[in-house]
Amino acid sequence: MFEKFSLHKGKTESPHHVTKSGRVPEHVAIIMDGNGRWAKKRGLPRIAGHREAMKTIKRITKEADRLGVKVLTLFAFSTENWKRPKAEVEFLMKLPQQFLTTYLTELVEQNVQVQAMGDLSRLPAYTLQAVKSAIERTENNTGLILNFALNYGSHAEIVHAVQNIIQEVSDHHLSLEDVTEQKIAEHMMSPALPDPDLLIRTGGEIRLSNFMLWQLAYTELYFSEEFWPDFNERSLQEAVHVFSARQRRFGGLAEGSEDS
Ligand code: FPP
Repeated sequence: MFEKFSLHKGKTESPHHVTKSGRVPEHVAIIMDGNGRWAKKRGLPRIAGHREAMKTIKRITKEADRLGVKVLTLFAFSTENWKRPKAEVEFLMKLPQQFLTTYLTELVEQNVQVQAMGDLSRLPAYTLQAVKSAIERTENNTGLILNFALNYGSHAEIVHAVQNIIQEVSDHHLSLEDVTEQKIAEHMMSPALPDPDLLIRTGGEIRLSNFMLWQLAYTELYFSEEFWPDFNERSLQEAVHVFSARQRRFGGLAEGSEDS
C-alpha cells in the first residue's frame, strides 16, 4: 500500500514535498469524468457540470505546470460522445471556443503550448477555428504542452495508423520488416509526445474508455472518486505523490531485486 499523503493546508504545497522521490510524471493524461453527476447532485442540468469543468481545466493546467509536468493530455470529447443528446453535443462543441476565449491570454502568459489530437475534421467550423487559432497563437511557446483529445478514440486512431502503414507498404515506401513498434508509434496521433507516465480518471469509474490504448501500455493508472469539477490542486498533488512512490518496471525487475 502507498503511504498516506498528508498535505499541509493550502494549495501551494511545494513540488518537492508532493513527490518525495523527486519523480514527477513528465506526461499526465486525464479522463475528466463526472461532470454530469456533479451537476445532478446539485439539481443542475448536466451542462452546468461541463461549464464548471472548464474552471477545473484551467486550475489543473496551472498546477501541473507548477509541479513540473511537461505534457497534459485531456480527454475532452470522444468518438463515442456523438451518441449523447444533440443539445449536449452542441454544448460540448462550444466549450473549446469558450474555454480558449476566456483563458487563452492567461495560457499564453504561462507559456503553455496548445495541441490537439483526434479527427478534427468532424468538428463544427467554429470549434475547429478556435482550436486552430489557439494552436497557432501558442506554437512558439516552450512551456507545458496542453494537448486536447477532441473527437478522439483509440480504436479509430489504430485503424487510421494501420491504413496509413498499409498504404506506405503498398507504395513501396516501407517494407514489412520496417513495421516495428517504433513505426506504429510514429503513426499514432501524438508521435512527438512521450507516452503518458500517469493516467488519471476522475468520477469513480475504473475503465479506459478507448483512450490512448497504445500509449498507455506501461502507464501508471490512478482512479479518483472525485467528480472532475471537484478535482483540485490538492487532488492532483495527491495523484502525483502516489505516482512518485510507485516502482515502474516496464516488464523488468525492480531495482536491486536481481538474484545474486
Ligand atoms: C465526462 O463527464 C466529461 C465529458 C464527456 C466532457 C468533458 C469535456 C470538457 C470539459 C470539454 C472541455 C474542452 C475544452 C477544449 C476546453 P460526463 O458528462 O460523462 O459525466 P457523468 O459520467 O457524470 O455523466
